[in-house]
Amino acid sequence: MSFINLETQGAVAVLTINRPKALNALNSSVLEELDAAVDSLDLDAVRCLVITGAGEKSFVAGADIGEMSSLTKAEGTAFGKKGNDVFRKIETLPIPVIAAVNGFALGGGNELAMSCDIRICSDTAVFGQPEVGLGITPGFGGTQRLARLVSPGMAKQLIYTARNIKADEAYRIGLVNAVYPAEDLMPAAMKMAAGIAKNAPIAVRACKKAINDGLDMDIDSAIALEEDLFGSCFETHDQVEGMGCFMSREKPKPKPVFTNN
Ligand code: CAA
Repeated sequence: MSFINLETQGAVAVLTINRPKALNALNSSVLEELDAAVDSLDLDAVRCLVITGAGEKSFVAGADIGEMSSLTKAEGTAFGKKGNDVFRKIETLPIPVIAAVNGFALGGGNELAMSCDIRICSDTAVFGQPEVGLGITPGFGGTQRLARLVSPGMAKQLIYTARNIKADEAYRIGLVNAVYPAEDLMPAAMKMAAGIAKNAPIAVRACKKAINDGLDMDIDSAIALEEDLFGSCFETHDQVEGMGCFMSREKPKPKPVFTNN
């Protein structure tokens, strides 16, 4: 792959969008490689994924404007679907995904970050949905995920005005969970990922499913989903080991490889 780097450190994988000359803009090739990289993750071994951008300036500066500039309506729809399919794959990965936003997260870049479970950023990060300035709507989920993540009114303001915001404002509106000095961002992301990876993987996956699927349901169905997933944790190695060790004051021994029990 030329546009994606994928490295594994223990149970944490780090995926880097690597097209720094174009500020990591997403063209079709980048999207296809991103899709293949996500497919290639060994979900028996990897317990948390961190996504970031190559270089010091940009996470992802959006979908590739050069490529989009000559698309027909049908090609535009297909390009949107290409991005949406891979972002939805990231959003529904069974393991948690952290976006370490190290600079510009504009258009498709903000949309990629929003398809992750958790967003943290550097103090140099800039977020925005500049699409209406280019004569298009956000096309990789921005109208939907931004309105769900921050308030609908704030999402509409950001999208209609196409105004970029800095890290402190992104933090204030709840778009990111934390802001770090640039040099501290990846260590913080890796520390958070390692903290997630050391917890019981069946339970962590069940939490992700409960939160994500539950948010799309009415509250009674969502509570019933939580009951099912809560129940599914019992009799698993992690539950037996985790609770047994609490009772005997020992340290739990996690299974080295993920299995569904
Ligand atoms: N697509 C293609 N190329 C891009 C790009 C993008 N989205 N963003 C940056 N680049 C390229 C530039 O063309 C430039 O390439 P050259 O050196 O070959 O000229 C290189 O990256 C560096 O960019 P700049 O010289 O512009 O860097 P800057 O520091 O002056 O500005 C910036 C940085 C403010 C991010 C500016 O590049 C910019 O505004 N980029 C576009 C941001 C944008 O509008 N993103 C949304 C795209 S639409 C979208 O994403 C739709 C969707 O929802 C799917």
